[in-house]
Amino acid sequence: MTERATIYTDSEIRKAMRVRVDYNNMLSTAVGEHGVTEQEIADMQPRLKAAFESANAKRDMMRWRDLYKTMPAVVDSILEAAAFVRETAENFVVLGIGGSALGPIAVQQALCHLHHNDLGKERTGSPRIFVEDNIDPERMTALFDVIDLDNTVFNVITKSGSTSETMAQLLIVTRLLLDRFGEEGLRDHLIATTDKEKGNLVGIARKYNLRTFVVPDGVGGRFSELCPVGLLPAAVAGVDIRTLLDGAGFMDELCSVPEPEKNPALVLAGLEVLAMEDHGANVGVLMPYADSLKYMSDWYAQLWAESLGKKKTVNGEMKRFGQTPVKSLGVTDQHSQVQLYTDGPFDKTITFLGVMNFRTEVTIPHAFDDIPNVAFLSGHTLNELITAERIATEHAVTVSGHMNKTVLIPEVNEFTLGQLLMLFEMQTAFAGELLGIDAFDQPGVEEGKNATYALLGKPGYDEKLAELKSSAVKQEKYVI
Ligand code: PA5
Repeated sequence: MTERATIYTDSEIRKAMRVRVDYNNMLSTAVGEHGVTEQEIADMQPRLKAAFESANAKRDMMRWRDLYKTMPAVVDSILEAAAFVRETAENFVVLGIGGSALGPIAVQQALCHLHHNDLGKERTGSPRIFVEDNIDPERMTALFDVIDLDNTVFNVITKSGSTSETMAQLLIVTRLLLDRFGEEGLRDHLIATTDKEKGNLVGIARKYNLRTFVVPDGVGGRFSELCPVGLLPAAVAGVDIRTLLDGAGFMDELCSVPEPEKNPALVLAGLEVLAMEDHGANVGVLMPYADSLKYMSDWYAQLWAESLGKKKTVNGEMKRFGQTPVKSLGVTDQHSQVQLYTDGPFDKTITFLGVMNFRTEVTIPHAFDDIPNVAFLSGHTLNELITAERIATEHAVTVSGHMNKTVLIPEVNEFTLGQLLMLFEMQTAFAGELLGIDAFDQPGVEEGKNATYALLGKPGYDEKLAELKSSAVKQEKYVI
């Protein structure tokens, strides 16, 4: 264990670093007629109990929940590979999409310098990090304009080993690497993260003797940040991955308490489900008040949308489920979206992420003391200002009658980020159980993947191609 991980084993520090949930403003007592009532919460108790039990019974299918216990066995090999990358590379490029990209982006943004790539390896000790989660040809070309293959290591991440976007990127990169370094040289520039036996990447990795990390069974893409999918990029960036796992374990303990009122993920899930079912909250806004947490919203949006957006229950009952996640950033979006959150329709919940202690403090100096309307800011800190603006926005949203809640993070660090990841994963799992749906599949995404295979001529997709051709017949009059 590193020194920091040891520090977080102290119970007082764990308590002080505990992520907290304040849901007062979800209730009708705070927001009035559009809020969740205490009676609704009381009536929901048997459902919460059942959801808690069924989530526990599925623990075998939810291996992502145990990663903090299983991953320590592979942490050493991850750190070894990360040390190799940190030593040899100026650039580390992740090739992946969806669950194979959003976690790495969120964790790097949260725990690294906000200008990590501009700071230089001498100061960060780490290569520049790029997560290429799109196949826009201009973006791919632009990447090769700023990296040099000689000092670049790629990490291709795909659980299925078949995603068209990632495989296309891999083909482009492999061709370039083989042309430059030959078959023997590939190992020093390409690391694979994939399923242990399924998919095309397994064979490719074996053929070229690549360093390979496994996405464990029972760990779906959007639940995979705490396995090598996220841990390797994080370790390359210098993140203390043991403490990240430790934080997740701490939150799992908190979410293993059967009493709903003491279990943060169960409370959050229950409130969101009540808001959706009984209060028309079709939209869920996540609004962190910290640039470091900006991409947590992207990660969460995928988790929440792909897990809950379903058209049937596990028993086959056809019904539409889900809540549209909206990504927002405090204070930036106060000047863009908050007008809608206060005066717009009662179709949403807003979850604020508040940071209690920022890792740096900036005092606003005196310069215009003769202008009282500006001078009042002098002497305060930006820390006070951003916190005041969060509290003020929570107030404005509450008095306008809109449901909102706040997740309070004592400080953004590995331990609290691990908690946050686990909190939202558990909230999603409990919400899936409450709704009676399968939160772990993604048939809609698979449909799109299959249609792409058909359009590009992948063997075995003739029927899908015929289906696409017949539905592609468009009426001229509707094209202008
Ligand atoms: O959550 C999921 O399962 C998906 O979003 C996947 O992460 C995404 O489609 C990428 O899949 P893969 O890792 O198999 O390339």
